[in-house]
Order: sequence, then structure tokens, then C-alpha cells
Amino acid sequence: MTFEQWTRSVLERVETALEHYLPTEATEPARLHEAMRYAVLGGGKRVRPLLCHAAGELTGARAECLGAAAAALEMIHVYSLVHDDMPCMDDDALRRGKPTVHVKYDEATALLVGDALQSQAFVALTSDVLPPAQQASLVRELALASGSIGMCGGQAIDLASVGHTLTRAQLETMHRMKTGALLRAAVRMGALAGETPGAEAMRSLDAYAAAVGLAFQVVDDILDVTTDSATLGKTAGKDAKDGKPTYVSIIGLDASRSLAAQLRSDAHAALAPFGARAQRLAELADLVVNRVS
Ligand code: IPE
Ligand code: IPE
Ligand code: MG
Ligand code: MG
Ligand code: MG
Repeated sequence: MTFEQWTRSVLERVETALEHYLPTEATEPARLHEAMRYAVLGGGKRVRPLLCHAAGELTGARAECLGAAAAALEMIHVYSLVHDDMPCMDDDALRRGKPTVHVKYDEATALLVGDALQSQAFVALTSDVLPPAQQASLVRELALASGSIGMCGGQAIDLASVGHTLTRAQLETMHRMKTGALLRAAVRMGALAGETPGAEAMRSLDAYAAAVGLAFQVVDDILDVTTDSATLGKTAGKDAKDGKPTYVSIIGLDASRSLAAQLRSDAHAALAPFGARAQRLAELADLVVNRVS
């Protein structure tokens, strides 16, 4: 199977899982459910679900388990985007090529969409397709990655840093928390959804995920200055306009590109112990670094 074929088949399964774990539009309160579905369905690159599936294939995870884990990861990610776009944070009007949730609906609805998606993620993870012990470990992974020592903590640092110059170490910490933590969780959760990997294998996966997680936000920072809004599906040039410290603002465009390339080769190197079995993870590292949106 080519990477494109594999990606297409995983993306189909992810849409089915998201559809399955999201309440229907007919469920009351219908407007909230409509807005949750507007935010989640039919858009986005689904990088976290893809990483989760690729890691799960390494440990023989069953498709239903990966569906639940991938849906949970994507719901947390979309919640973070909906809140990130709100006027109290980045104040963005465009996301995934459509008006953001607070623009299309209203601010209170956007707040609740994020809150409810977060809860729904844990509903998905505790569905009975997963044995109780796995449910508990996946819940813990996702909660740690999305909370104050992960994504939310990184977002807090991001907002507190507007207009300030960060050291490179501070910038790296912020990026690892706001974006890297959830990407790392995607890899870990995929792996943990199958046969529990040994400590050594988990260390290799962690090293891979750390590199890919940081690379992802470095590339996001690059694309903000190099790509137009139509291609990105979100407002380009927003970081400089808002005075956000980014890799581009702190080390420059060329050094940011070199760093992304270095992180890609770090990710590949970390996969060496798995050989050809880690092909999808290697291809996903390439996708993260070479993407154009
Ligand atoms: C954007 O994430 C926000 C960051 C964490 C950098 P993605 O680039 O994964 O957004 P979608 O899911 O494809 O829309
Ligand atoms: C957001 O980072 C990271 C999140 C946790 C959502 P950005 O603010 O750079 O994401 P975009 O560029 O709006 O997608
Ligand atoms: Mg932001
Ligand atoms: Mg933003
Ligand atoms: Mg950005």
C-alpha cells in the first residue's frame, strides 16, 4: 500500500469514528451539537489521528481502539483550536477555510463547543471498545497532554509572551507544551492501544514524537509568514501582527527551516530500532515537515 492509500483509508476510518462519537445534530441542544460538528467534521489535516494509527499499527492495536483514541485526540485538538481563535486569545476569523465558531455562532457557543468537545473526548476514550486498564492509561495520557502541564500551559505561556522576546529555550518549552504534548500523546496513545510496548520501544517512540511535535509548531510558525490565507485556511501573517514570539521571529526563516529539517532527521533516527515496521511514522514525519498548509 502506498502512503497515500494508507492515509486515505485511515482518514475514512477517522471520519467514521468522529461521526460515531459526536452527538447528532438532532440531539438537544441542537445548536450546540450543530456547532460542535461544524468545528470537527470535514476539515483539518487530522495529523494527530494519523500519528495515533501509525503508532498503533506498530503494537497491533485493533481498529476500534484506534478509532476511539483518534477521535478523542482530534476532539481535544479541535477544542484547542476553537478556544485559540476566540477574541480573548488569538482573535481569528478563519479556520479550516471557514468562519471560526465564535464568528459563525457566538462567543458563548464557541466556549461551550470547546468545553463539550473536551468532555466528549473522554466519553470516547471510556467506551467499551477499550478494556478498562487501557481506558485508564489513555485517559491519563490525554488529560496530562491537554492540561496545564501540556497544551493549556503552553497556551498560557503563549498569551503571556505577546510583545516579549523569549530566549530560545523558553520558546522551545512553549512550543513543546502548546503543540508538542498533544502530538506526543497521539503517538503514545496509539502505541498503548495495542500490546503494551516495552520501556525501550516507548523511549524510541517518545524521542520520535518529541521531534515531530516540535517540528510541527516550527513549521506552523514558518507557514504563517510564507503562505497565504487561502492555502492555510487560516489568517496568514497573524503571528507578527500580534507580536507573538515564534521560531521565525527569534531565529529567522532560514534557521527555522534548517531546524525543521534537523528535527525530521532526528525523528527518522529515533525510529531506527523498528526498521521497516515504522515506515508510516517515518512518512508522517516527512509530511509534518514538508506540508504546505
Ligand atoms: C494548528 O494545528 C494549530 C497548531 C497546533 C499549530 P493543525 O495544523 O494540525 O490544524 P488542522 O487540524 O490541520 O486544522
Ligand atoms: C495554537 O498555536 C496551538 C494550540 C494549542 C491551538 P497557534 O495559535 O499558532 O495555532 P494557529 O496558527 O492559530 O493554528
Ligand atoms: Mg495561539
Ligand atoms: Mg492561533
Ligand atoms: Mg500558528
